[in-house]
Amino acid sequence: MKKTILSGITPSGRLHIGNYFGAMRQHIELQDQGDAYYFIANYHALTSRHDGALMERHTLDIAIDYLALGLDPSHCVFFAQSDVPQVTELAWILGSLTPMSLMEKAVSYKDKVAQGMTPNVGLFTYPILQAADILIYHSDIVPVGADQKQHIEITRDLAVKFNLAYDGDFLRLPEASIVEAVATVPGIDGRKMSKSYGNTIGIFDEGRELKEKVMAIVTDSTPLEEPKNPDTCNVFALIRLFAEADQRDAIAERYRAGGYGYGHAKKDLLGLIEDRFADARARRKELAADEDRVRRILAEGGSMARERAETVMEPVRRATGLIRSFH
Ligand code: ADP
Ligand code: TRP
Repeated sequence: MKKTILSGITPSGRLHIGNYFGAMRQHIELQDQGDAYYFIANYHALTSRHDGALMERHTLDIAIDYLALGLDPSHCVFFAQSDVPQVTELAWILGSLTPMSLMEKAVSYKDKVAQGMTPNVGLFTYPILQAADILIYHSDIVPVGADQKQHIEITRDLAVKFNLAYDGDFLRLPEASIVEAVATVPGIDGRKMSKSYGNTIGIFDEGRELKEKVMAIVTDSTPLEEPKNPDTCNVFALIRLFAEADQRDAIAERYRAGGYGYGHAKKDLLGLIEDRFADARARRKELAADEDRVRRILAEGGSMARERAETVMEPVRRATGLIRSFH
């Protein structure tokens, strides 16, 4: 039996190359290794964004980005979380079985509040919604970053609690598959690339904007003619992600030999970024010009996801004794 792979992507701004190497690339690769379900987690985004027009825009933009980068709706089910209302239904049921202490132990709420997010109840119960996202499709494998590990453990806990409370195998226990980012991708100031630090290079940046960002990457001030250490250089940390092995080694050699300045390295990096994303950029433009097509893809994915969700939800509803007088 093929395993069900599921992951969610929060639509919260323009995607950057840290997101690409830390998450998106693996999602795209995994679509051929099982029954993959990928959704845009707009209910999750609602815990921190309250502008309807912007929410819709970000949702479509992220869909376009993923499709442009190679997510193929004929190889995976790609949809918006809000197209599966069973998720919020299950989240309520799970919430009624969740001890307060379990939520109080969750670190992501504390982290987010520490970062300045408004401490609303949605943010606090976010892991319960995430558990419902996962359990509603009988997911086997959940590829996520290490920061999400606790949420998968909470998901397993809640599945066990439900199955015990209602005495049956209603919900399947998922496994986390921790996506090891190749490395933490540095931003132009050398800290972790993150939209909260304003130090990102966007996947779809191009032309002058892209050039300016690459040229702004922080380096030390070793003079051009002197040998340089590639392993401590932010520019090389990015080159390493984009270049093939032989090209990477050749550039490292030039660093060590001297006579190769950071300006040269930045130019090489710029070329590599442009090449890597050239096709995706062209596809993105096509998709952006045909948004109806993108909406149709999400609608079809949503319909498949709902169908699957209903097969899990129906026995759950029956077990919990929640009467439903319509179909
Ligand atoms: P941001 O830090 O910009 O808010 P998110 O927290 O939304 O990014 O991250 C979405 C995904 O991208 C996560 O799986 C995360 O692990 C990955 N990711 C984000 N930034 C980086 C980075 N600099 N290096 C590697 N992976 C990253
Ligand atoms: N919480 C995840 C993040 O911040 C996004 C997400 C929501 C998710 N629901 C999920 C990931 C279900 C995996 C499975 O990145």
